[in-house]
Amino acid sequence: MDPVGMNRFAAKTMQGIKQRPRRNRKSTGVRAMVRETYLGVEHLVYPMFVQEGEEDEPIEILPGCMRWSVTGIAKECRRLYGELGISCVDLFGVVPEEKKSADGAEAWNERGVVPQAIRAIKQAVPQMVVMTDVALDPYSSFGQDGIVHEGEDGEIKVLNDETVEALVKQGLCHARAGADILSPSDMMDGRIGALRAALDEAGLTEVSLLSYTAKYASAFYGPFRGALGSAPKKGDKKTYQMDPGNAREALREAELDIAEGADMLMVKPGGYYLDIVAKMREHTHLPIAVYQVSGEYAMIKAAAASGWVDERAVTMETLLSIRRAGADVILTYAAPQVARWLREERGI
Ligand code: PBG
Repeated sequence: MDPVGMNRFAAKTMQGIKQRPRRNRKSTGVRAMVRETYLGVEHLVYPMFVQEGEEDEPIEILPGCMRWSVTGIAKECRRLYGELGISCVDLFGVVPEEKKSADGAEAWNERGVVPQAIRAIKQAVPQMVVMTDVALDPYSSFGQDGIVHEGEDGEIKVLNDETVEALVKQGLCHARAGADILSPSDMMDGRIGALRAALDEAGLTEVSLLSYTAKYASAFYGPFRGALGSAPKKGDKKTYQMDPGNAREALREAELDIAEGADMLMVKPGGYYLDIVAKMREHTHLPIAVYQVSGEYAMIKAAAASGWVDERAVTMETLLSIRRAGADVILTYAAPQVARWLREERGI
C-alpha cells in the first residue's frame, strides 16, 4: 500500500478521534502509572499440609507441595517468612486411616498434629500469622466434612447441628494452641455464630474467623483430596457445598456470615467464580479471600510441564485477575514461587 495514500486516508477519517486509549499504554512507565490492580506478597496465604512422624514427603499430584512433619513445617515457615516475606500460612492436618472415626474426634485432640504444628510454628517464627482449617473431612472415616448418620438403607446424611458442636471443639482446640485465624471450610449452617460465641466465652476474643462463605461443590478439589486421602468414601458434598449454578445464594450466605460475626469472607474455587467475587465485593465492606484451589493449580502445572503455557505468566495473570475481581487475600499453592517472582520483578 502506498504510504502517502494511507496517510491521506488516516488524516481524513481519524481526524475526529480525541480519545486514544493506547496513549496510556505507550511505555512501561506510563503503564505502571495507571495500573489499577497489583499483586503483592502481603496478599498471599500459603496452604500447607502437616502429618505425624519425621518425614517430609512431596505430594505428586500437587507438584511443589509437601506433606510436612511438625519439625519440617516449623523450619519451612521460618524460611517462608524470612526469605520470601510470606506472612500467613493455612494448616491442614493429614491423619492416617486408623485415627479416623465416624465423629472425627481426632480433630480436637490437643496433642493432634495441627495443634502441635501451630505451637511449633509460633515458637519458630512468632510473627507468622497462623490460620487453620476447621472441618472434619481429614478426620472422618466417611471423608465428609461433618458428622454422618448412616441409615439402614446405607444412605448417609451429614448432620448439621451435631457437626457445629464438633467444629466448635476443633476451633477451640486450634485457638488454644495459638492459631490467629480459624477458617471453617465445612459449609454447615450457623457455625460462624457458634464459633464466635464459644471463642468469646473462652476469652479468645482476638481469634479471627475467616468463613468459607461461598464454597461450591466443585470438581476442582480433586488433587487436594488425593493429597489428604480425604475423598468422600460415600456420597458427595452437595447437601452442604453450593451448587455451581447459584450466585444470589452466595450473597445470602455472605449476609448470614456477616451477621454471625465473620471477620473475612471467602469465595472458593477462585478463577471460575470471579463473578461471585465481584458481586460479593459490592455487597460487603469485609475483606474477601479467594482460594485458588488444587485443581486450578494442578492444571497450570500440567499444561506448563507439557510446554503448552508459560507457567509464570499464566500464574501471575490468574492471581492478578482474582485481585481485580475484588479479592484482598488469595490462598494459593503457588505462594512461595510467586513470592520469588515478585522479588525478581523488584530486583531483590
Ligand atoms: C475440605 C476442604 C477442601 C478444600 C479445602 N478444605 C476439599 C473439599 O471440600 O472436599 C479444597 C482445597 C483445594 O482443592 O485446594 N474441608
